[in-house]
Amino acid sequence: MTEWDAAEYSRRSSLQEADPSRDMISFAQGHFGPATLPNLRFLVADARSLPFQNEFDLVVSFNALHWIPEQQTALSSIHSTLVSSGEAQLRLVSKGARKSLENVAEETRRTSRWSAYFQDFEDPYLHLTPEEYTAVAERSGFRVLRVSTKDQAWDFGSRMAFSGFCAVGCVAWTSRLPAAERTDFINDVLDRYQAVASPDSGEENIFKFYQMDISLLAI
Ligand SMILES: C[S@@+](CC[C@H](N)C(=O)[O-])C[C@H]1O[C@@H](n2cnc3c(N)ncnc32)[C@H](O)[C@@H]1O
Repeated sequence: MTEWDAAEYSRRSSLQEADPSRDMISFAQGHFGPATLPNLRFLVADARSLPFQNEFDLVVSFNALHWIPEQQTALSSIHSTLVSSGEAQLRLVSKGARKSLENVAEETRRTSRWSAYFQDFEDPYLHLTPEEYTAVAERSGFRVLRVSTKDQAWDFGSRMAFSGFCAVGCVAWTSRLPAAERTDFINDVLDRYQAVASPDSGEENIFKFYQMDISLLAI
């Protein structure tokens, strides 16, 4: 929603926004209600089980699909919503040479200080290279039209700002912890992450990630 050009929205005759989070849908409705985009409807729904068949000519998704380990289920569901020769324009975080913040959260939760809280915990995050993602997309009924990846860096400028961002992104991990321990967990993750992503002085609060854009054609 936030990253797609508003002109693209108004150009389309009918739009459907879906997210499994009621809070995200309420937020989006509050900012893009009927007065702004009368052709936009909202739905609380999971990408793995979208309730549409052969309905759309284009699906877009921004930085949501890397939260779905069952990626083929999600891509097959997206494929089902598309008309023949419909397209999916997907942006998500891919796997690259450098460990991700989520890799470091996984390593942190396995350490002796935290492991007791994570019995039966499964990594909530998807880690695929562009090549691996291409293979999953092809197995889900798509032809890959384009794929590109950029190595991105966001400087949060302070530990407080970086830890606020990390606290939101790490809810799947911190929701296992007592409230009083969550800040310590986030700080432990960020201390370890610094050595991975930004070992040089002055780069302490830089978040680095591989941003993949992939265009798919439903065949
Ligand atoms: C970083 S936010 C991106 C939100 C929005 N697309 C944007 O660009 O601002 C990640 C979103 O992925 C959604 N998400 C997580 N699991 C999902 C699933 N199984 N199906 C669809 N969306 C999911 C979350 O609810 C959250 O709104």
